[in-house]
Amino acid sequence: MEFSRKATVLEAQGHHIIRLGVGEPDFGPPQAFVDALKATLDSPAKAYTNALGLEALREKIAGFYKRMHDLDVLASQIAVTSGASAALLLACAALVDEGDEVLIGDPSYPCNREFMQSMGANVKLIPTNPASNYQLSLEMVEKNWGENTKGILIATPSNPTGTSIEFAELKAICDFAKSKGGFRIIDEIYLNLADYDENGHPAKSILEHDDGAIVINSFSKFFGMTGYRLGWCIAPLELVPYIEKLSQNYYICASTPVQIAALECFSDAAIKECEGRREILLKRREFVLKRLEEIGLAVPVKPNGAFYVYIDVSSTGMNGMEFCEAALVKAHVSLTPGDDFGVSDTKKYVRLSYASSMEELEEGLNRLENWLNK
Ligand SMILES: Cc1ncc(COP(=O)(O)O)c(C=O)c1O
Repeated sequence: MEFSRKATVLEAQGHHIIRLGVGEPDFGPPQAFVDALKATLDSPAKAYTNALGLEALREKIAGFYKRMHDLDVLASQIAVTSGASAALLLACAALVDEGDEVLIGDPSYPCNREFMQSMGANVKLIPTNPASNYQLSLEMVEKNWGENTKGILIATPSNPTGTSIEFAELKAICDFAKSKGGFRIIDEIYLNLADYDENGHPAKSILEHDDGAIVINSFSKFFGMTGYRLGWCIAPLELVPYIEKLSQNYYICASTPVQIAALECFSDAAIKECEGRREILLKRREFVLKRLEEIGLAVPVKPNGAFYVYIDVSSTGMNGMEFCEAALVKAHVSLTPGDDFGVSDTKKYVRLSYASSMEELEEGLNRLENWLNK
């Protein structure tokens, strides 16, 4: 966000900045959602919905799991929220008490640890490495699980690395945490932007194995709706009344017109439109990885989802922060320093988001190449 602000200052001075810093898809929502949102204004009076969201939308989300993952999720397990952010906040508030320890991989999405800490948790950031795809492994979780550990929070695919935990490893981690009576919050916000397997099947949700896990997801990334603030959480039934009370108290409900319009996100046409974008992102990823290799910037683990590449810039003699500062000022390309995502070994990394048009990516990478060659 700080680099984004600096980019805005440079833009105000007349410079064209290529923004590869912030993780927002450039596609916008599916057309059916836009049309439906306009139609909601024909009857502008909109009351609050139930704190857990419109019943019809909860049903549609359950249907999405059947369609994409062949999973039977009950609509009554689903809470519609103001983005994944609210889902994470509710899950943390429902599960964590002052002094509880929670295990999270480093690097990882920084807000996740903030949500936990704001509930009084002690977050134990566990350093990961390229060998574990920058994700937690069973060995790391076993080694770090202590007397006060109450659970784990994992995002897969991950922000900032775009890499995933092997499903077998994730299953083993969840089994272990469960055997210790610990909670498993799995942030699957990028799951539907992960590569399909060799048989053309979407990446698996943890719910396929662990129906006691709390799954977080959102309309922000797969449906391209960051600013509309809509997401959801799937929880075991016994937890739902707590989530309901918390959401009633925190923010009453997610936006009513956005919920009504979001019903259209689940039409056949809308889902196909969004799946098509996953393929576009894949092409962009291949292009970015090829260009980075040509430029001589190392990507130790190739991403397999989301829209991020985690680049090791140590060969340039700069750390991630210096690289981002210089790339912005000298090449007018905005990136995000690894520092933002953790404390162990993150200094040498930079995150590039390829959720931008091919033209922008070409221009941005040409600029980086010219600047580094100089
Ligand atoms: C891993 C992860 N979880 C949650 C969020 C929050 O998403 P939302 O816009 O749905 O609140 C983000 C946003 O970038 C993210 O990267």
